[in-house]
Amino acid sequence: MRFTDKTCIVTGGGSGIGKATCLQLAREGGRVIVADLDLASAQATVDAIDGAGGNAIAAQANVGDSGAVQAVVAKAVSTYGAVAVIVNDAAMMTFTPILDIAEADFFKVLTVNLGSAFFFAKYGAQHMPAGGAIVNVSSVHAFATTPNVVPYASSKGAIQAFTRGFALEMQSRGIRVNAVAPGAVDTRMLRDNPNVKSGVEKLEGPIGKPEDLAAAICFLASDDARFINGATLLVDGGRLAQLP
Ligand SMILES: NC(=O)c1ccc[n+]([C@@H]2O[C@H](COP(=O)([O-])OP(=O)(O)OC[C@H]3O[C@@H](n4cnc5c(N)ncnc54)[C@H](O)[C@@H]3O)[C@@H](O)[C@H]2O)c1
Repeated sequence: MRFTDKTCIVTGGGSGIGKATCLQLAREGGRVIVADLDLASAQATVDAIDGAGGNAIAAQANVGDSGAVQAVVAKAVSTYGAVAVIVNDAAMMTFTPILDIAEADFFKVLTVNLGSAFFFAKYGAQHMPAGGAIVNVSSVHAFATTPNVVPYASSKGAIQAFTRGFALEMQSRGIRVNAVAPGAVDTRMLRDNPNVKSGVEKLEGPIGKPEDLAAAICFLASDDARFINGATLLVDGGRLAQLP
């Protein structure tokens, strides 16, 4: 029970890795704010937590919107008190070559995937006492990628640099900032990926379950990882270790 009575915000908590993370945090005693663009799926996660005897509330939010992020933080603090854990999991992809993508679409991906971590850092960390932890979700696409997903890959690379630098800034406050870089994980995002469907991105090697990522995220968010800071943990079942 590593999160007993700790206030935990998880974005993208309505599906996939975010949902599995919400369920594990709640199983371990956390009071979870399930934030998602899709309120119905966030509520379904809350209902599952309630059904298992845990504590959670849903918050509808576009994490690429500063005001919406501030509202999630305010709701977390007013409902459950000081924030102990923030998991920045929500993200989006586009599948358009750089020569064709609209400027607005490029910057939308950066705002949702990277700006969200900035917003939760700027407005969430000030409500975190010492001992708090932030976990950002990067991707193997930060290391190796496919055509037509440059905005996504850029955002996931930048998340690792953001994590490293913000960890340094928060060190004196006793707040740790880390990231996970998932490989292929069996979620809607993977199944709906046109590059995966077309075979441009081959799913060679193991495919993880959302719970595999939740375990790594909860480890980094917990005091078990008290000496880990500014790190990105590759959680890909060995996918990147294998030469093609
Ligand atoms: N599944 C994989 O293979 C894989 C691999 C590498 C990285 N990741 C990363 O893992 C994270 C979770 O992805 P997943 O695979 O669980 O996907 P998913 O599609 O199952 O879940 C993503 C959730 O984020 C929410 N969301 C999307 N845009 C949002 C926004 N603007 N504001 C708030 N919520 C929003 C969606 O509604 C959804 O509930 C993402 O950061 C993704 O980039 C996934």
